This record gives sequence, structure tokens and C-alpha cells, in this order.
Amino acid sequence: MTLASSLDASRTSSLLSRYQQLLEISMQLNSTLDLASLLRKIISAAKDLTNTEAASIMLLDPASGELRFEIASNINPHEMEKIVVPMEGSIAGWIVTHGEPRVIEDVSKEPGWSRRVDDTIEFHTRNLLGVPMRTHTKVIGCLQAVNKLEGATFEEDDITTLTVLASQAAIAIENARLFQQSDFIAEMVHELRTPLAALKASTVLLLRPDLPANRSQDIIQTMQNETERLIRLTSEFLDLARLESGRTRLDLTRFDLGDLIRESIDVVLPQAHAKDVSIGVDGNKYTVTADRGKVKQVLLNLLTNAIKYNREHGRITVHLQAVGSGDKPFVQVAVQDTGFGISKEHQKHMFEKFFRVADTAGFTQGTGLGLAIAKHIIEAHGGQITLESEPGVGSTFAITLPVATR
Ligand SMILES: Nc1ncnc2c1ncn2[C@@H]1O[C@H](COP(=O)(O)OP(=O)(O)OP(=O)(O)O)[C@@H](O)[C@H]1O
Ligand SMILES: [Mg+2]
Repeated sequence: MTLASSLDASRTSSLLSRYQQLLEISMQLNSTLDLASLLRKIISAAKDLTNTEAASIMLLDPASGELRFEIASNINPHEMEKIVVPMEGSIAGWIVTHGEPRVIEDVSKEPGWSRRVDDTIEFHTRNLLGVPMRTHTKVIGCLQAVNKLEGATFEEDDITTLTVLASQAAIAIENARLFQQSDFIAEMVHELRTPLAALKASTVLLLRPDLPANRSQDIIQTMQNETERLIRLTSEFLDLARLESGRTRLDLTRFDLGDLIRESIDVVLPQAHAKDVSIGVDGNKYTVTADRGKVKQVLLNLLTNAIKYNREHGRITVHLQAVGSGDKPFVQVAVQDTGFGISKEHQKHMFEKFFRVADTAGFTQGTGLGLAIAKHIIEAHGGQITLESEPGVGSTFAITLPVATR
């Protein structure tokens, strides 16, 4: 056997083993619908297949048109949240826009390379291979393998394997997302069943010939309550579905935030009185540019939560203050309560839809959609919603909104 043909043979066998690996991974990907574990499998496969130090996935956020890290083997999730990669002028943006792979042999010589990410995460990127993540219809992001090990350079085989992996991964991610949506529908139908069952039982009772006359009034009252709950549920579902699909338009006007806060407090005052919870406001006057109706919806949910999950004779304070600086000033509204508080573990899930803390879910009504809706609304305004809480002491939910410019 000549040297050339033996080299060929070893290359063929290493290629075959790569394809074997790729096949196994793609089968695994197709059987996983949990997005987080899916992402972990993809980057670990990307590293293995290309023999590199690190790998990451950036996905396109359709709302902002920017790229965000979904997962990276060399960045912790906390740091990842802070990094936004623009489509214009970045390497990943180029890959997504052109739908083509790219090898950067030496990032220090690359004009589109931003050191910002490396500086943030204290990592030294030498070289990288990035490929588009393409579904049947579009490019959803970019898969990158970083720093080829043992001083090697990226080869044609690396590009081919990573490209195949990226398309498998893109389809698996899309499937997982669709599954999440169908999950939403399942949960929604489940929530609707309880009031519907109560209504059905009420009509059966009402139709009984032997029903004592004085009972019918109570049953009709129950029917009215359950009907109201159905109306509230369906409108919350619709709100969230619209917000999630990005079909919600904000109706921006200038208004005084303090006025809106007082107006919202008036709505919840009877509920607060019933529990002897007092509500106070402090802070200056701020004019904001925002969707008044939607911000009111957020404030009502925060205030209602602060009452529902408060103790008897508790207190709620609403603090208004300016935050941030520079050309984009924001105002923060913090709703502070003296309620049960929320454990660190539960805080992580607070803004997920349908999430309710089991201890409190038993004795208060709710769907667990209020905060998920609030997060969408505030982020659509360019603001943020945050939470600080200590179990047994209380919680503070804070939102920020852009101050109106003259
Ligand atoms: N201020 C608070 N103190 C303690 N727990 C809270 C507070 N606010 C929210 N929670 C917890 O977070 C969960 C989710 O709140 P969220 O407002 O999303 O839903 P909800 O109040 O249950 O229902 P709704 O959709 O009617 O608002 C609540 O069920 C409760 O367990
Ligand atoms: Mg609520």
C-alpha cells in the first residue's frame, strides 16, 4: 500500500466514524423535546465532532432582530443573558444573514470580531468555525465551534459535519418549540375544564324537580362566579398568545405614572380592605411614554398579587424612582409587600406561564399567567421586570418604563 492510499484509508475511516457519531446524535436529538437538554446535547456533540475547546448556539430573537446566546459550553447562563450580538457587523450576524458557514483562522485579524464577549467571559478565542442553523424555511441562528485543539486548523470535513449537525439541531429546536406551544394549549384546556365542570354540575342541579327553592339562588351565584372566571381565563390566554407571537401592538401615549398608580390602587382597594392590608405610595412625579392600558394591567396584577400573597394586616408600599442614566432615562415602580416571600428556587420560575407556588395555590385563585403577561408587556416597552424576595419577610416586584422625552 502506498503512503497516499494509507492516508486516504485512515481519513475514510475517521470520516466514517464521524458520520456514525453524527447519526447517533441525530437520533438522540429527534427523540428529545426538552429544549434545555436538547441544547446541551448539541453543543457537546459540536465539540466532539470538530475536536474543539468550546461550542455555542446563538439564536435570532425575532422581536429585537438581535442574536442571543442560548447556550455556550464556556459561558455561564448568568453572563449569557447580558450578551447581545448585533446582526450588523458581527461574524454570527454574517453567517445568519448569508446562510453560509465561515471559518476564522485567527480572530485577532478579523475586523468583524468583537473582543467584548471574550472580555465579559474571560475566555480567549483563537479561531472558530460558525455554521448557520437552518430549518425547512429559515435560518434561526448560528452554531459555533471555538478553538481547534492541538494546534490544528479547521478542515472541509469539520465544516461538513458541523453543517449537518446544525441543520439537525435547528429542526429539533423547532420541534421542541412547537411542542412547548402544544403544551400551552393542553394546559389551557385543562384550566378551562374546572369552571366548565362546575357550570355543568350547576345546571344538572338546577334541573332537578326536587330542588328546594332557596338553593337555586346559591347555584346561580356559583354559575355567575364560574362564568366570570371563564371570561378572565380566556382573555388572559388570548393576551399571552398574542404577546408570545409578537402580534401585540403597543398604543403609546404620554401620561403621568403616579396618576395611573393611584387609579390602579383604587381598583384593588376593596380587596385590600377585606384583608386589612394598607397601601402607600412614595416618590416623585414622572411622565412616561407607554401603553397606558397594558401598564395598568401589569400594575393591577402586581398589586393583586401583593394583596393575595400578603398576610392579614400586611402592608404594601409602591416606590417610584428614576433609574439609569444617559440618553435613555427610565423610571422604576417597585411594589413591596410584607407577604410570604418566595424561595430562591421558586424565584427562578416566577415569570414562567402557569407557574404557581404550590403552598399558595391552594387558597387563592389564579392561573399563574399574570406575571408571564407582565414580563412580555414590560419587555415590549424596552423595560425590565425584576424580583427580590425573602421568605417570611416579603417580596418586591419592580418594573421599569421609559421616561417621556420632550
Ligand atoms: N407578591 C408575591 N408574594 C408571594 N408570592 C407571589 C407574589 N406574586 C406572585 N407570587 C407567586 O407567583 C405565582 C404566579 O403569579 P401570577 O401573578 O403569575 O399568577 P396568579 O396570581 O397565580 O394568577 P393570575 O394569572 O390571576 O395573576 C403566584 O401563584 C404565587 O404563587
Ligand atoms: Mg397574579
